[in-house]
Amino acid sequence: MSPKLSRASYFMAMPGLLLGLLVSAAASGGGGTPPARSCEACHREIVATFLETAHFRTSAEASARSIKGHFAAGRNVLRTGSKGIYFRMERRDNAFYQTAVDSARGWSRTERIDLVFGSGRRGQSYVYWRGGLLFELPVSYLVGIERWINSPGYVDGQIDFGRLIVPHCLECHSTSFPLRTAGGGAWYARNYVLGLSCEKCHGDGRAHARYQASHPSDTSGRYILNPARFSRDRRVDNCALCHSGARDSKAPPFSYRPGDKLDDYFAPPADQTAAIPDVHGNQVGLLQRSRCFRSRPDMSCSTCHDVHRPQRDVTAFVEKCLACHETSQHPRAAEIGGRLTTACIECHMPNRKSQAIEIQTATKPFVLYYRSHAIGIYPEVARAVLQSNTERSR
Ligand code: HEC
Ligand code: HEC
Ligand code: HEC
Ligand code: HEC
Ligand code: HEC
Ligand code: HEC
Ligand code: HEC
Repeated sequence: MSPKLSRASYFMAMPGLLLGLLVSAAASGGGGTPPARSCEACHREIVATFLETAHFRTSAEASARSIKGHFAAGRNVLRTGSKGIYFRMERRDNAFYQTAVDSARGWSRTERIDLVFGSGRRGQSYVYWRGGLLFELPVSYLVGIERWINSPGYVDGQIDFGRLIVPHCLECHSTSFPLRTAGGGAWYARNYVLGLSCEKCHGDGRAHARYQASHPSDTSGRYILNPARFSRDRRVDNCALCHSGARDSKAPPFSYRPGDKLDDYFAPPADQTAAIPDVHGNQVGLLQRSRCFRSRPDMSCSTCHDVHRPQRDVTAFVEKCLACHETSQHPRAAEIGGRLTTACIECHMPNRKSQAIEIQTATKPFVLYYRSHAIGIYPEVARAVLQSNTERSR
């Protein structure tokens, strides 16, 4: 679910119009590069936990395992506010389909779900192949409420199979997705690599793997990039490629390499001038506003995140805060009491509504919440947390 602004520019209703854009994007995107498995022989533990992460699972071929949505009768229909217009999701043999039905006009259209985007932490969108290009399907799925929904940014009650998936979407959600151009046409090659893999952050690892295999006594890692050795700005850029919101590109997609300056590839984020960057997709913009980040030139995303494994326990992050802050120094320690550590993240990095994702329904729109990376003081949140504290102890 890309930010609203970006979505508008990622998709266009007319593939013809987009062809020019695709062609000018130039044929890049790698392809055929080795996935995480090629690192397994020597980095077994990292690979084993990495395969469980949202990064690795952010895109996949459609299968009963990768699709989170329900196909059983009674749970496989999305009704809309327009009379007679609905969507039906079906499984036949080992394939999955979305059908849009306009019963008043006696019309319907069916497309197969070919690829899945989103690991399913919150939700998934689905795409289908047509003429060598990829198009978004009109129905997405929200995991929390276990419901099919209108895809983000889609108008309820309209049937739209025409939104093209452009390379930047794939740059953020896959390891490589080569685009071929010839004779004025453009199409995606089939040697793409789904999921985000090691090379996305470490660069091409083939020379490294070859060298280490033939020099087993060399215990230093050569011919590979380690972001830990980048300057702080370049280290943050390595995540900002995908976590700094909607940005217009200045260079062909998939051309950024770890260690490069991201501003050479993208214009500043569209919401940089906004009062607050959106909590969806722009963790970089928010963190950069926090006093922690501004006061500590060594702070980066890796201060708290180990991207090689899933981190699902919010309270486990508190020890990261305590590397720099002391509970005994907290101005409200006495009042907060036992919840000082358990509610630390809740008070200072509260969940906030995304303004960027619009999900229409037949009734009222759905809202999604994300963890704000603007670490700071939120008096009203603290009050609510303390309130629930007193209620509990009564
Ligand atoms: C034949 C064994 C071997 C293979 C295959 C291998 N590595 Fe390594 N790698 C090593 C050794 C040995 C080191 C140095 C010790 C360490 O840091 O673990 C290393 C270090 C690293 C480092 C840290 C480098 C630094 O400067 O600190 C990274 C990053 C890395 N490898 C990534 C990868 C990736 C990604 C792959 C798969 C494309 C891979 N490795 C495949 C053996 C291997
Ligand atoms: C190539 C794009 C890309 C890069 C580079 C990238 N991310 Fe992500 N990240 C994503 C996408 C896409 C998701 C959402 C995955 C999903 O759930 O489908 C995500 C999700 C995450 C999550 C949530 C994971 C979870 O399990 O809840 C964290 C944390 C995160 N990224 C941190 C980082 C950090 C730190 C870096 C830099 C070291 C980084 N990312 C680099 C694209 C990227
Ligand atoms: C989303 C970005 C990202 C992805 C994907 C990623 N890494 Fe890393 N990796 C990093 C960062 C950032 C560091 C430096 C962490 C730090 O600052 O300590 C790192 C460090 C390492 C190191 C150095 C030793 C260590 O444990 O810190 C190795 C080895 C490594 N990565 C291997 C891998 C392998 C193998 C894969 C794929 C299975 C992989 N990485 C995928 C971002 C990534
Ligand atoms: C600039 C990078 C970027 C682009 C472009 C982008 N996304 Fe994302 N997307 C992300 C990140 C980062 C996340 C997760 C973190 C967040 O939500 O803040 C995410 C989350 C998602 C999720 C939800 C995963 C979950 O369960 O939370 C879906 C589905 C998704 N994107 C689909 C798409 C599709 C389809 C496109 C293109 C049409 C697209 N995105 C374009 C970066 C991007
Ligand atoms: C790398 C060190 C570091 C880490 C990690 C860190 N902080 Fe900070 N934080 C700081 C510094 C330095 C300041 C600024 C103190 C000052 O200027 O007096 C600060 C300021 C703050 C402030 C005051 C903000 C304001 O706007 O006045 C809060 C609240 C805070 N941190 C909470 C947290 C929480 C919660 C975490 C963990 C999620 C955390 N910090 C992680 C270093 C850190
Ligand atoms: C001071 C600690 C800290 C730093 C630094 C930090 N994060 Fe986080 N991040 C967290 C915490 C805590 C969560 C919430 C985890 C949860 O709810 O499971 C989180 C969650 C996330 C998520 C999932 C958000 C959601 O609501 O789904 C993404 C994506 C993410 N971080 C990316 C980043 C990126 C990119 C950076 C660097 C710009 C970064 N983080 C820096 C502490 C941090
Ligand atoms: C119940 C909510 C709550 C919890 C839990 C909480 N804080 Fe705070 N914190 C606040 C409030 C409110 C303030 C502002 C207090 C003031 O200015 O009087 C504050 C202030 C701070 C400051 C600024 C201190 C200063 O001297 O200006 C830091 C740093 C901080 N908290 C860090 C943390 C860390 C780290 C944790 C978890 C280990 C934590 N807080 C837990 C609500 C909370």
